[in-house]
Order: sequence, then C-alpha cells, then structure tokens
Amino acid sequence: MTHHATATATSDSALAPDAGPPDAGPPDAGPPDAGAPDAGALAAGAPDPEEVYALGANPAETARLIRQSAELRPEALALLDELGLAPGRPDADPSARPGVGSAIDLGCGPLGILDLLSAVVRPGGRVVGLDADPAHVSAARQYAERRDLRGLDVVEGDARHTGFPDGSFDLVHARTLLITIPSPAEVVAEMARLARPGGWVACQEPDVEVVLCYPPLPACDALTDLFRASFERAGADLRIGRRVGGMFWDAGLEDVHVTVHANAYPAGHTRRTVIPDLVRSLRPVIVEMGLASAAELDSLDTAVREHLADPRVLMMPHLLVSTRGRKPELRTYRRLSSRLWRQRRSASARPRAPTSGRWRTC
Ligand SMILES: C[S@@+](CC[C@H](N)C(=O)[O-])C[C@H]1O[C@@H](n2cnc3c(N)ncnc32)[C@H](O)[C@@H]1O
Repeated sequence: MTHHATATATSDSALAPDAGPPDAGPPDAGPPDAGAPDAGALAAGAPDPEEVYALGANPAETARLIRQSAELRPEALALLDELGLAPGRPDADPSARPGVGSAIDLGCGPLGILDLLSAVVRPGGRVVGLDADPAHVSAARQYAERRDLRGLDVVEGDARHTGFPDGSFDLVHARTLLITIPSPAEVVAEMARLARPGGWVACQEPDVEVVLCYPPLPACDALTDLFRASFERAGADLRIGRRVGGMFWDAGLEDVHVTVHANAYPAGHTRRTVIPDLVRSLRPVIVEMGLASAAELDSLDTAVREHLADPRVLMMPHLLVSTRGRKPELRTYRRLSSRLWRQRRSASARPRAPTSGRWRTC
C-alpha cells in the first residue's frame, strides 16, 4: 500500500456550496493528468481495479465519478448533517465546528467526499481516501494538492482488507462502493472494524430497482435492462441500498438509521443521464457479452438522450439510501459480540473462531 501525505490543515474553501470540483474539465474529458491505469503502479495488497470494479478503469469513468461528487453533494451534506457534522459557513471559525478527529472514505474514487471530510475534521485532524484504482488515487491526490487540502492522505488499497489498525477512525464512510462489490458484507465488517468504539460508520448506496422515466420510452427501458444485466454480471447487487441497514446490524453496529432520497433530476442536470452514462462505461462488457452491438447501443443512446432533453420528461434514475450507525462502546460491544458469537455457533454445524476477537485491541 502506498501512502501520500500533503500538508496539515483543512481548507474552508472546500465548503463552497454547489461549487463542484474545480478543474473537473468538460464532461467525458477525463481529469487532468489522470492518465491510463498503470498496472505497474499497483501497490502490494491493492486488487486489480479491472477485476474488482464492475465499471472498469478508464478516463471516461474517472470523469463520470468527478461529476458524481458534485451531483450527490446535497445528499452527502445531508448525511453529514444527520451525523451532527454539517460543515460550517466558509467564514465560520473552524475551532467552533463540532468536527471529528479522523475520517476515511473507502472507494473514494477520484474525489468522493474527501473535500467535505476535510472540512469536518478538526484542525490537526486526519482524512484518508482509499481506492483500488491507481488512476483514481492519482486524480484524488492531484485534487487535494490543487485545493491545498491538508491532513489528507490518499492511499491505494482494498476496502475489504485495508490494513489499518482496529478503531483507527472516528468516521468511516463509503459511497456507491458496496454496489460494485460482490461481497459487500466484507466491506461493512471492515468499516465496523476501522471505526473507533463510539465512532460512526456511514454509507450512501443506490437502489436501482425502481427507475422512473415518464412518459416511458422503450429505448430507455432497453438501456436500463442492458445496464442491469451487464452490471450484475460482475456480482454487483443493484438493490444494495435497501440491504445496508441489515448489514450494519449484522456487523455489530447500533443506533442504525436509514434515509431514502428519491430525486428526479431536471433537464440539463448531469445526473439525469446517469443510466446512459453508465452504459457507456459498460459498453465493452455489453458488446463482449453479446447483449447488444455497438450500433444498437449508439442508437439507444441517441434516443434516450433526446428523450431526456425534453424538460417535460420526469427522470428518477435511482433511489439513494443513506445508512448510518455507531460502533458500540467497547464494553457494550464485548457483550454484543459474545451474543452474536453464541448465535452463530448454534446456527452453524461447524464451530468457527469468534469474530469478536477482531475488536479486542480497540
Ligand atoms: C462507483 S465508484 C464511487 C467513487 C466515490 N465513492 C464516489 O461516490 O464518487 C466506486 C469506487 O470504488 C473503487 N473500488 C471498487 N472496489 C474496490 C475495492 N475492493 N477496494 C477499494 N476500492 C474499490 C473503484 O475503483 C471506484 O473508484
């Protein structure tokens, strides 16, 4: 795992509402200098991004993720607000903010919510971004340098096995990571392990069962079906949003709360075309699977984008499910974990080692 450190204080300029990431470049242009993934740059312990990430590693997908950080900013701010961590006004005294001492964004992509986390850690605090894709790691580091986001490390690694010690962070966050991973419970268990006792674990994950396009368009249905079929091929669960709360309880978290955001995006909003955009990222997979030819994809893409350009059309491409929970204080957790262990032992024919051991060093 490689580590990268910049300097050490937070920048309130990161708080400018709706500012979006500067230098994001025009849509589909790719982030400056992000470059193509370099297999040689993969650190030991980091998985091959082509293997773990259903949407592939390429500059267009990196650019889409930079747009996503601006698109989902209101929901990210709402989540931080629920945690009592709403970033203050840009001119507010940073020492007066509630803040946390440390936070990590797992699967941060080229930006994720690193800018917002930098704004909610106390002065002298620490923010870590972790991603499997070296191109995303490099883009996130460049963003942090341009914005002079201090106290921020961006590291290459596997969200399922980060290698950080137990209880390292006050806040452990992931957004649209679990949906891309065939074994999301492993990531949730790692998130719970990384949180300090009493610390927060939070996820924002979509649920793409209900896509509302009205008036309907057969080409839109066809493109959505292609998205579902190709994305699920990699083991991704498109209904993950609704499952996260249960996974939090299973991982021994408590005080679990779920909020569902249902947004219809107006014409001109970049999130409105997220399904055709995702299909563009999945194009090689779709063609290789024989689900559609390149020419068919082009014609569906044109028809759907024309439809969505009409301001009278309503488009809700997904639900976004925010889930937050707390890691119990150590004494409570020990009680809870021994109960979980007894339950597991009686449910399983083969006795296993108690998972509670993972928490003992917290
Ligand atoms: C859909 S993107 C989300 C990026 C960012 N969280 C956001 O919301 O904008 C998923 C990210 O998770 C990363 N990823 C996928 N599997 C991973 C793993 N096992 N470990 C670390 N990162 C992973 C991908 O490289 C990608 O950057």
